[in-house]
Amino acid sequence: MSYNIENFRRIREEYKEKYKKAEAAADVRRRELWDRIEGLRELDRVLSATGPRLLNAVIGKSGESFEKVKADAERLNHERAILLATHGYPADYSDPRYECEKCHDSGYVDGEICECMKLRLRMAGYESSGIAKLMGEQTFESFRLDYYRTNQRSYENMSYVLRTMREYAENFNPDKSGNLLLLGGTGLGKTHLSTALAKTLIDNGYDVVYTGAIGMIADFEKNRFGNSAGGESGNDLDRYYGCDLLIIDDLGAEVSNQFTVSTIYSVLNNRISLGLPTVISTNLNQTELNARYWDRITSRILGEFRPLLFSGSDVRKLKLTE
Ligand SMILES: Nc1ncnc2c1ncn2[C@@H]1O[C@H](COP(=O)(O)OP(=O)(O)O)[C@@H](O)[C@H]1O
Ligand SMILES: [Mg+2]
Ligand SMILES: [Zn+2]
Repeated sequence: MSYNIENFRRIREEYKEKYKKAEAAADVRRRELWDRIEGLRELDRVLSATGPRLLNAVIGKSGESFEKVKADAERLNHERAILLATHGYPADYSDPRYECEKCHDSGYVDGEICECMKLRLRMAGYESSGIAKLMGEQTFESFRLDYYRTNQRSYENMSYVLRTMREYAENFNPDKSGNLLLLGGTGLGKTHLSTALAKTLIDNGYDVVYTGAIGMIADFEKNRFGNSAGGESGNDLDRYYGCDLLIIDDLGAEVSNQFTVSTIYSVLNNRISLGLPTVISTNLNQTELNARYWDRITSRILGEFRPLLFSGSDVRKLKLTE
């Protein structure tokens, strides 16, 4: 899933608006101060003139020394803070209040997209990819165990699976949580519980990338032929490596060739060496996994991932008979 260009444009506009609003609100507070505090307006005028004075001092256009202007500015700022304090206002009362301290709501830091805007883009990505809808419906709360009542072992197993996933979500810590491998046939609730997990973590402020194996491979494929990472469309593959939790749904649905296998290997290998957790779900069984991904991937998967075996009957079919 790469940033969708429509989303990108829209969100950039949103940021411009957000920035303007913060500036306008600061302006309102400044005027409020001017109305209430005698002499502040004049002080602010003198203070704002120190900017051009500094510049002129640097280029030698005025007789003033840079140090002198700087000292003046510091003194004026100090005076201003005291003046505000005596009227019961904090010194930064008329400073703009940005939602993001890092980028001051510009969306960029040193020419790179700020983390806050990346998160916003990702959320918009969920919305436009339809995952947002799933997130509304496929929650831990809506996961029913009574589908498994007819078989006691299955019921106990799925109770255990649900409990484990819930605990994983609640105790999540990107530095400590391990990897999960959700195994089992179609319709057993793997996607349901992965979405529930993603939602819980996003709600808790974690940076989660949820992707189908097919979509992830497609992103790497796009990137393969000269399209450098980043840029306007923001197709950056780094988020697969760097997000707090990567969820790869339906591993094995992608075509199997050397490129897809080595892409998956590279992503998993990198995350494991960075100590970052990944959750994979697959319909494939052990033998099929071995056959598909050679031993070097499977030994990684089997060694580093905690397997959770889903059981029961296809819930899609059970729902039809309700
Ligand atoms: N235990 C459950 N309770 C409620 N709905 C379920 C349960 N298990 C699966 N479903 C629903 O059945 C459908 C198929 O489940 P899904 O999670 O897509 O299966 P899988 O990914 O294992 O193939 C989805 O609509 C899902 O919400
Ligand atoms: Mg699924
Ligand atoms: Zn920011």
